[in-house]
Amino acid sequence: MNHIAIIPGDGIGPEVIREAKRVLHRVQDVFSIPLRVTEFDWGADKYLREGVTLPSGTLEMLAGDFNAILFGAVGDPRVPDNRHAADILMGLRFGLDLYANVRPVKLLDEKLCPIKAARTQDVNFTVIRENTEGAYVNSGSIFKKGTPGEVAIQTEIHTRKGVERVIEYGFDLAKRTDRSKVCMSDKSNAMTYAGDLWQRCFKEVSERYSNLQPAHIYIDALALLMVRTPQDFQVIVTSNLFGDIITDLGAALQGGLGMAYSGNINPNGVSLFEPVHGSSPAMAGKNVANPMGAILSTAMMLDHLGLVEAARRIETAVTACVREGHTTRDVGGTLSTQEVGEAVVARL
Ligand code: NAD
Ligand code: IPM
Ligand code: MN
Repeated sequence: MNHIAIIPGDGIGPEVIREAKRVLHRVQDVFSIPLRVTEFDWGADKYLREGVTLPSGTLEMLAGDFNAILFGAVGDPRVPDNRHAADILMGLRFGLDLYANVRPVKLLDEKLCPIKAARTQDVNFTVIRENTEGAYVNSGSIFKKGTPGEVAIQTEIHTRKGVERVIEYGFDLAKRTDRSKVCMSDKSNAMTYAGDLWQRCFKEVSERYSNLQPAHIYIDALALLMVRTPQDFQVIVTSNLFGDIITDLGAALQGGLGMAYSGNINPNGVSLFEPVHGSSPAMAGKNVANPMGAILSTAMMLDHLGLVEAARRIETAVTACVREGHTTRDVGGTLSTQEVGEAVVARL
């Protein structure tokens, strides 16, 4: 029995997750998957009501009682510093040691790509973003705040263990998915200390995978090449902030944030799956958000749980909807969030 934790979150999170659940329940029936779902109301409403972000004991409960987590999005303009969102999202990524943020950049239909003449086979790679350190450790200070001489210090932390394991994850993923090219991207020409560690780890790890082809590209050059020659990429490994930035670019290549999906993976524990987009407050409550990112995240979760056939079937159904134009406005269709969920279900 797979026990799934669902965290819809804020804004469009609950709307896209409602459709992901519709799809999940459909494949549960079609494939007779033993599944139990427990939903959690963590997000801005609960924070504003009770002052609680992630209740104490949450990490132990998720790690102990659940096989996977399906997450919507967090972020709410009523919480200007988005403290709750940091506690919840970073709390889960760091607290559950979800060190590999796996973000496929896969074009399902040519008409979704802004690059002229790009074919689906040209945009099909996976970015692995380090997810537990780098610029996201929230280490730093402000000195003389509010004065003309104020100084802000924001420190990045890159550890041997953290860098090595995420690079290894990239090579393992390439091997497992029959891909041969692994590209590491950093900014070692300017950020020399972190770059030095990333370069050495990459060289050492790549020597252990002699059948795979390692390559290095600076992150600025990568941004250009992802647009110009996306067909050259198969697996890209990079640090937390660079990965955040280039996966929004990657989302644009596959149809926008509404289409992009991800897994926050702890290979030795429970993992979390979520669309790449945020809570998009301006769209919330209008039944217009694209649920495909959340639905494809659900497929990725099922694949991770070994339910490969169910995962494939969802991806095929989503692809069919996209090709036939049964989509929301952001990707050229006219359907509502719910209608898209129903259209996917109808093809299952
Ligand atoms: P966002 O992803 O919420 O929205 C940016 C734009 O992308 C939207 O204006 C919309 O045009 C488009 N978009 C996003 N999701 C879409 C969907 N499903 N369908 C159609 N169009 C979609 O990013 P933002 O506006 O920078 O951030 C809003 C809030 O979300 C902030 O509080 C931010 O911190 C938070 N956020 C959370 C996560 C997360 O929970 N993982 C990720 C990103 C941003
Ligand atoms: C993402 C988001 C988050 C991140 C924000 C909300 C902190 O942009 O999941 O890509 O930067 O990781
Ligand atoms: Mn992001």
